[in-house]
Amino acid sequence: MMDNNLEIYNSEIDNFTTTTLEELDAFRLKYLGKKGILIDLFNKIKDIPPENRKDFGKDINILKSKVLEKVEALKNTISQNQCTHTPSLDVSRTANFIKLGARHPISVVTNHICDIFKKIGFSIAEGPDIEDDWHNFESLNFAAEHPARDMQDTFFIDKNILLRTHTSPVQVRVMEKHQPPIRIICPGRVFRNEVITARSHCIFHQIELLYVDENVSFADMRQTLDYFIKETFGSERKTRLRPSYFPFTEPSAEMDISCDICNGKGCNICKHTGWVEILGCGMIDPNVLTNVGIGPNKYSGFAAGIGIERLTQQLYKTKDIRLFFENDIRFIQQFESI
Ligand code: DAH
Repeated sequence: MMDNNLEIYNSEIDNFTTTTLEELDAFRLKYLGKKGILIDLFNKIKDIPPENRKDFGKDINILKSKVLEKVEALKNTISQNQCTHTPSLDVSRTANFIKLGARHPISVVTNHICDIFKKIGFSIAEGPDIEDDWHNFESLNFAAEHPARDMQDTFFIDKNILLRTHTSPVQVRVMEKHQPPIRIICPGRVFRNEVITARSHCIFHQIELLYVDENVSFADMRQTLDYFIKETFGSERKTRLRPSYFPFTEPSAEMDISCDICNGKGCNICKHTGWVEILGCGMIDPNVLTNVGIGPNKYSGFAAGIGIERLTQQLYKTKDIRLFFENDIRFIQQFESI
């Protein structure tokens, strides 16, 4: 080798390595750029004694090819590494599935019932969970000390303030503010001081139904309830209407449906009768209308209170009411697609 520097360049090229394109480019320019080492070496050829020129030329040509090979090889490695380090992106891929939660079965059924009544012109009204004695009892014809108050074991907060025992006080709140015609449904949570078992709980849900207008009859109530049962359970489901007593309706009745959990044979859900009570109903007592300032001679109406838990148990064959309150994710997830 003619030039001592050639050895240095050779070993520098052999040992050079990098992982970045920037460093590689600097290396390339150092040797192959316009002011680079190789141009410099080619310019020196003329100063070399003629007998050595050929060898010198050969050496710098080898050096040039080495630089070119090195640059090419490193360029490939760097771009390959960049590809494997960048997460591959397939823009045509279907988007990741975002898992949705499940609605609680009580909400599913409540929404479903609201839709059924909305179709025939009822609108939704709501009232507070914490009520006063007037709205929960007194205005609904439960006189103070009246034994009918014992029908509903009450959680009292104060002498006059309590957790509502039914959704009927919402009827009163609406009728106090509006004159007929009134067509409302009131979904909500209610509370009773009762022992928790497979059939009953201290918290449960009701939907109140109220229709007040001129000439509303018992037959209107019966037809409306039949429509509701048909929409909910289909036309084959058996129902029966039994006379009953509520202070705020006269006459009063309760509606039972045949128990689907045991197919009418008798089980702990239907107390071995084959029938499950799902609602109370009746014609609004004239005293209630008077209490809220609606003339009972001109107007009449019907009301009903539907028990959501019982209905949901029948719809989904849930044998224990406590499942609705435990919020066990394995139970709730079964309602995902509804
Ligand atoms: N509020 C009653 C209860 O919880 C149910 C009820 C019965 C509601 C008759 C009504 C009705 O609107 O007319 O036991």
